[in-house]
Amino acid sequence: MTAILLLLHLLGATIWTGGHLILAITILPRVLRGRDVAALHWFEEGYEKLGMPALVVQIITGLWLAWQKMPSLALWFSAEGGPVAQLIQAKLVLLGLTALVAAHARFRVIPRLSPATLPLMGWHILAVTVLSVLFVVVGLSFRVRWGF
Ligand code: HEM
Repeated sequence: MTAILLLLHLLGATIWTGGHLILAITILPRVLRGRDVAALHWFEEGYEKLGMPALVVQIITGLWLAWQKMPSLALWFSAEGGPVAQLIQAKLVLLGLTALVAAHARFRVIPRLSPATLPLMGWHILAVTVLSVLFVVVGLSFRVRWGF
């Protein structure tokens, strides 16, 4: 079961983080240069169909994996939980920040998207992309001790 959960979690991560890296590194600069609102809408509409289910899969499998590692909600949020609890907390903070930035983009920025507001949208995309990479770094930290 853990293997299947991890497989789904990693597949979701490739879609969520990979999709945002492609958006931020290859599509966003072209959109900003050409002030091309339609191109951004075109990518978002296509990506949303895969990206949103991927995020839902991340949340379900992530919570499940976290429960397998530490089957006590009280420990997740206490100082006695040690490094595993700290990493679970970090994942939940990243999730909260992602939800805030995404909701702000979805309800405040996208409805008024125009060539003038494209740079603001760009900052939102960059923020969600950085958060998505941090999800992977924190995820790997359950196994890897960073030897810097
Ligand atoms: C878009 C969101 C997320 C991404 C991109 C992501 C990515 C990753 C990655 C790459 C790993 C490493 C897996 C490995 O070492 O084999 C991981 C592990 C993990 N993630 Fe996530 N994750 C996300 C959301 C979450 C959420 C919301 C939780 C809930 C607390 C969570 C909990 C975990 C746990 C517990 C592990 C350790 C699994 C293990 O080593 O057994 N993740 N994640």
